[in-house]
Amino acid sequence: MRVLIFIILAVLLLPLILLGYLIFFWRIRRVCIPQNISGTANEPYGGRLYMHVVGTRPDEAGYKLAWYLPSYGGIARLLIIDTLGLACKISGYKLWVFSYPGPRPSNMVTAISHRSYFFDESVKEALFRSSNPATQFVVLGSGFDTRCYNLPEGADIKCFEVDMAPTLNAKKRALELAGIAHEHVTFVETDFNQETWMEALLDSGFNPSLTTYILWEGVTMYLVEEAVRDTLNLIATLPAGSAVGMDFFSRDLIEGNPPYEKLSKATHRSISFYSESLRFGIATGKNLSDGLEELLKESGLTLIRFEHIGSLEDKKPPYYFLSLIEKQ
Ligand SMILES: C[S@@+](CC[C@H](N)C(=O)[O-])C[C@H]1O[C@@H](n2cnc3c(N)ncnc32)[C@H](O)[C@@H]1O
Repeated sequence: MRVLIFIILAVLLLPLILLGYLIFFWRIRRVCIPQNISGTANEPYGGRLYMHVVGTRPDEAGYKLAWYLPSYGGIARLLIIDTLGLACKISGYKLWVFSYPGPRPSNMVTAISHRSYFFDESVKEALFRSSNPATQFVVLGSGFDTRCYNLPEGADIKCFEVDMAPTLNAKKRALELAGIAHEHVTFVETDFNQETWMEALLDSGFNPSLTTYILWEGVTMYLVEEAVRDTLNLIATLPAGSAVGMDFFSRDLIEGNPPYEKLSKATHRSISFYSESLRFGIATGKNLSDGLEELLKESGLTLIRFEHIGSLEDKKPPYYFLSLIEKQ
């Protein structure tokens, strides 16, 4: 019955949702891209907004922030996100696509909830474990991530958000307009593809002698290989117990090797809509994690947890991975 009521409401609201998406995509092309504000940052963020309104993963800060962003701001959030939330609230049906932590094995449709859960858990564990908790939290390529604003009150953690200036500026403006406290967060404007990005972080007060958790979610695929290697090498210089949570695509997907030829083309095409490009993937190998473990040899970091999106039974082997890597 709940599902039926939801479907009826969703069909009635569909024209509004489609209008919302028209406005949203127009803004991406005409407002965000010309100002170099990341368009792809809206993709995972949109998934988290849906999980919030559906009631599976609360993110009040993210929800408030959306109202003031150039992409989801005002009418767009109302038409795209709030309408669906309303349909779920009235019907009492929690749309499975936005379940949290979501089904296992996951698939590309439920990838955002799998990914959010993986990183939520690793952040919580690193910051709140009893022994040697991380006291510094760095979000690399933060986009519209709001984990720094959903920390428990009174948590004594130094937070840094690192991204390119246009995206950070749009976010800072939205945080101010939304009245979200952000005094505990230092914003660092930089480009990871430039060798000096760590200097920008150090100049902003980052303390390399503190145990640190680095969230590097949804970013490696946009970087050049050297930037990924350099970043891992830098993380290896942090104190023991420091960790990085990162996701990555397989090299075969990025390069369009069999059996991913068509999927690779479609993925590159969808990212080029945002005027961004996918550049980096890691070889997988027999154990899927072989390539990552090989990459980590250079920095001496240790792979602690490794998960894949999709099932091993799927026609195409998994090509998107989540990992937790530690300095021991
Ligand atoms: C797909 S978004 C992910 C955002 C966020 N981590 C999340 O999961 O919601 C990728 C982010 O990385 C940032 N980014 C991409 N390339 C970058 C670079 N070379 N230097 C700094 N930031 C970069 C983009 O601006 C964007 O905010």
